[in-house]
Amino acid sequence: MKEDIKEVLFSEEVIVDKVKQMGETLSRNYKGKDLLVVGVLKGSVIFASELLKHIDIPCELDFIAVSSYGNSTQTSGVVRILKDLDNDVEGKDVIIVEDIVDTGLTLSYLLKYFEDRNANSIEIVTLLNKPARRKTNIDVKYYGFEVPDEFIVGYGIDYAEKYRNLPFIASLKEEVYSNK
Ligand code: IMP
Ligand code: MG
Repeated sequence: MKEDIKEVLFSEEVIVDKVKQMGETLSRNYKGKDLLVVGVLKGSVIFASELLKHIDIPCELDFIAVSSYGNSTQTSGVVRILKDLDNDVEGKDVIIVEDIVDTGLTLSYLLKYFEDRNANSIEIVTLLNKPARRKTNIDVKYYGFEVPDEFIVGYGIDYAEKYRNLPFIASLKEEVYSNK
């Protein structure tokens, strides 16, 4: 795995420190609200798990799985729900936990999905923000780090289902994905 890495962008220590701050901010901003944390599978699982440990107010946890990429590095813009939420979101203050916002197409679909189900409020919390390739005008209120327009892996984030288990965030060497 290591030989496919171009550059380590954020170490595990730096990530955990940032996620702790994000959890503290959310705990302050959602005090007294009916908080529902929704992790977007599978990329957000490690981030969502760490984040949850630093939220010290009552909250629920649910997961949704969507597919937008297949095994390619390009978004198709077509979003499919692979696993729906277990519980009702009506009246809840929802935070959608994502691994990385790239074009924003996945999230604009999910925002509409939660609006249609009458959530009381909806905000996006993403570990990584890649604004260079944004194709929609979505408001990313909370994010951990901004990343350059490169293919990123690690800390839950994959390329073709691999590299999720790297404890740090790194860019992938171009030759790993360019000839696929
Ligand atoms: P979007 O719809 O283009 O914003 O893409 C969102 C999803 O694409 C993310 O949740 C990721 O799963 C995936 N994605 C976008 N950029 C990257 C990347 O650099 N590495 C790995 N996955 C990515
Ligand atoms: Mg994803």
